[in-house]
Amino acid sequence: MSGDPAAALRLPEVVARLYSVSALAELVDLRRTLHADPELSLQEERTCARLQRTLDQLGVDGVTRVAGTGVVGRIPGRDRKAPSVAVRGDIDALPIQEDTGLPFASRNEGVMHACGHDVHASWTVAAARLLRDEPAAGDVLLVLQPAEETGEGAAAMLATGILDEVAAIFGAHVDLTFEVGQAMIQPGAVGAAADRFEVELRGQGAHGARPHQGLDPIAGAAQVVSALQTVVSRRVPPDQPAVVTVGAIEAGTAHNVIPDRAVLKGTMRSLDPAIRELLADEVRHVAESVGAACRLEVQVRMLQGTPAVLNDRRAAVWAREAAATVIGAESVKPLPVANMGGEDFAFYQERIPGCFMRVGARRPGDPVAFAHTPHFAPAEEAIFVGGALLAAAARRASAELAAAS
Ligand code: NI
Repeated sequence: MSGDPAAALRLPEVVARLYSVSALAELVDLRRTLHADPELSLQEERTCARLQRTLDQLGVDGVTRVAGTGVVGRIPGRDRKAPSVAVRGDIDALPIQEDTGLPFASRNEGVMHACGHDVHASWTVAAARLLRDEPAAGDVLLVLQPAEETGEGAAAMLATGILDEVAAIFGAHVDLTFEVGQAMIQPGAVGAAADRFEVELRGQGAHGARPHQGLDPIAGAAQVVSALQTVVSRRVPPDQPAVVTVGAIEAGTAHNVIPDRAVLKGTMRSLDPAIRELLADEVRHVAESVGAACRLEVQVRMLQGTPAVLNDRRAAVWAREAAATVIGAESVKPLPVANMGGEDFAFYQERIPGCFMRVGARRPGDPVAFAHTPHFAPAEEAIFVGGALLAAAARRASAELAAAS
């Protein structure tokens, strides 16, 4: 390996040309520094300080810490009267022990950038550089958001009022399903509403040898889990993507003891608001009825999470056309299958027309490694593609909005 990690980058020529040699090296260094020192949601102290310093050094206006561990800054546009647009990157890590073997792997026990938010933070800085050198019509607000993984960060940023005047917002996620140089951009739903449920089944404890003397919540829980499999297969129209997953069962202490209580925890994913409601109703109905048939007391708790990520039609067209000028129209595609992941970018989109893109982050020939696993390692080329796409989308949206205002 040479001393310059940027020298190993294999970037599409058109993207490489956008960055100076020193910018490539600095951004790779930033990403590796963030990666080696990951911090959990709402604890992003060092991450936040480092990003603040980096934006200050770039000469970004009004760099400020907001919403706890968030950072904002502003790249002035050419026209003071043109509407502002925003680009957003998330910055938090996950409670996972890294096992990538990378030389810049996490130094923090049990914490890892396993969703690529280190890359997202870095490509937001990359976009800042590009927008500083070639400004948009209006101002571009840089939004470095904490706590995406817990679904709290976007709402906290919105609550500061800092985005009140923003007319369009763009964000993106690395995706190792796709190769570096590709981007998935489309109008409509590109991420799912992610809601949680908890079912508590109360019975009556007994000796494992004499179940007739008690009311077994474990046998009931098993029936509830089985019955829940029919919610999507029997109640949801076949053209509507939906998922119901029970991810946790908590019950019991020993092989010969019938406990008095079992708890199921699960997630419901949907793209359409009507399906979102239907899933919550059906999960409740199935849990309550099947539990009651087992003579158990049932309590169902529904916890609403992030809504579906809905790309605005105009914002998506601008982002797609802008991306085509960066990586070529043939590399900009719609998602091949519905993405049922959740993303709190959806909260911005409830207030501001926006577009969320997925950016290819796998080198050709490399295996697919999934996000939220100890082996997740997006290609660093994605920093530069993502930065270029966000900057181009912001400029394009800004120009369109300025022309219309
Ligand atoms: Ni993520």
